[in-house]
Amino acid sequence: EKARAEGASAFTFDEIEAGVDEKHHVAAGYDADILLRWGDPVFADAPAFDPANQTAEAQEKQFGYNNDYVGYIPIDGSSEHGLLVVNHEYTSEHLMFPGITQVVEKDGKKELEIAPADAKRVAIEMAAHGGTIIEIRKEGGNWKPVLDGKLNRRITAKTEMQLTGPAAGHDRVKTNADASGTKVFGTINNCAGGVTPWGTYIMAEENFHGYFQGELPAGHREAANYERYGVPEDSYQWGNFEERFDLSKEPNEPNRFGWIVEVDVNDPHSVPKKRTALGRFRHEGAESIVAKGGQVVFYLGDDERFDYVYKFVTAGKFSPDDRAANLDLLDEGTLYVARFAEDGSFEWLPLIQGQGPLTDENGFESQADVVIETRRAADLLGATPMDRPEDIQPNGVNGKVYVMLTNNTKRQADKVDGVNPRAKNAFGHIVELIEDGGDFAATKGRWEILLKCGDPSVAEVGASFSTATTANGWFGMPDNCAVDSAGRLWVATDGNSPKQTGRTDGLWAVDTEGEARATSKLFFRVPVGGEMCGPLFTPDDQTAFVAVQHPGDGGDDWEGFGRPSYYEDPSTRWPDFKQDMPVRPAVVAITKQGGGKIGV
Ligand code: FEO
Ligand code: CA
Ligand code: CA
Ligand code: CA
Repeated sequence: EKARAEGASAFTFDEIEAGVDEKHHVAAGYDADILLRWGDPVFADAPAFDPANQTAEAQEKQFGYNNDYVGYIPIDGSSEHGLLVVNHEYTSEHLMFPGITQVVEKDGKKELEIAPADAKRVAIEMAAHGGTIIEIRKEGGNWKPVLDGKLNRRITAKTEMQLTGPAAGHDRVKTNADASGTKVFGTINNCAGGVTPWGTYIMAEENFHGYFQGELPAGHREAANYERYGVPEDSYQWGNFEERFDLSKEPNEPNRFGWIVEVDVNDPHSVPKKRTALGRFRHEGAESIVAKGGQVVFYLGDDERFDYVYKFVTAGKFSPDDRAANLDLLDEGTLYVARFAEDGSFEWLPLIQGQGPLTDENGFESQADVVIETRRAADLLGATPMDRPEDIQPNGVNGKVYVMLTNNTKRQADKVDGVNPRAKNAFGHIVELIEDGGDFAATKGRWEILLKCGDPSVAEVGASFSTATTANGWFGMPDNCAVDSAGRLWVATDGNSPKQTGRTDGLWAVDTEGEARATSKLFFRVPVGGEMCGPLFTPDDQTAFVAVQHPGDGGDDWEGFGRPSYYEDPSTRWPDFKQDMPVRPAVVAITKQGGGKIGV
């Protein structure tokens, strides 16, 4: 570690160049090694990955698709041996399956047509969703999965789960298949997440609306509820093969998704719990910290234009020496939503049935109604509509909290406010929260804008990177983030592209303190078409895990690299670069050559 001058950046690595090509890039002096790819074995008896002959049975034993959140749960406190927990957010059919795409011309533009799903493909898709829990070990400086790890597990869209907390057993979560209103199968669209102080794995259910199809029976009581959540938006055709994803057959099923899921990783047969006390919305993630008084505080974003920032404070206190005593902490506590004022203050408004507008007359007869319709409850309380809240990270070193707001091009000039200061916000921003008295359980505090993102050399963008930030160092669209054990902020992005920003997504190191505040440096970048997820540091800061999601996906910017990208003709064959191997999402382990802490 080099000595650092007063006011200098907390990061001393040599920044890489922003750009776009087929490979990943990391700062000089670091190794970025592929740890786990889609299709890699999670168990010793998993079949080898055979992309031309995929089956659901094989996928259930292999690493899933589109890795997003990455967490690390140390074994015996080690930074070199632990459980890696990884969300598999969604599937990208055109990059996964051979022979299903056709390039067609529409209005002079090339588009991909994807063949309708069949039962076999849907079963593979469902098995590729969910999460992976896998033992990993660092030996001779290199991380390797431990395939006979006794705690290794795949969670999929079919894994049995239990609804707990205020909505459990309520009529609105009962279905034809489940009269108890507590037994749910699967978790979907798990974006970011968290690891609790007691070592459980949190999976946030984000864009659950996209998995439902069909029409509600006429006059059904959930019509307004579902409209507020965008249900249904049939992106997957699962309802053609599984009745529960068809509203005409199981009208209450969408109320069983959109929750925070907690997994006890110490028992590979544990039934994951959907913790309804934390509300139902497009949950981005749930990073947590122990407050001064011992309560555990979870920061929660609802990733939608004009939706809200939440937090949950447990009623009970964390017991550091009694893991079992913490296992149901998430069933009791207070869910709050944020209201930001123009004077730099904010308030956390409690969502409690019977308080304020959350009454019988407004359709909130119990706390179950409040959590099932969290968005409507927050609307009535007067929460502040935000520019798409993504990951929210408490920082135990400086006591602050960082809120990633990814973008919101629909914000009109007459709707800007202090905390969402830009109209047509294409590049997003980062807000810093300072809870009153440095107490994460406080009900009010102060906010500041840390960073308005985008190219600072284009005046009308209105970006606020420091002048020390180079042409490589700026970014747009903050999404996932991490704070390392030194309290330094690392930001991963979703949406930088050749066309919009002349760069791929990546991992940027962002100074938050002193004169260097709002200085950003590019540390790692993904191959073309990819999105940067993870990131996560081991407790010793000597490894950073990052997740490259949907590499090779053109998204809405095929023009940026000249052509559509699909299974047979991807824009990159990262990470294998073999002609018979499709592009594969993968988790990458970054270490310093010769050892040492990352970034210094
Ligand atoms: Fe799945 Fe909000 O990103
Ligand atoms: Ca995200
Ligand atoms: Ca995070
Ligand atoms: Ca994302």
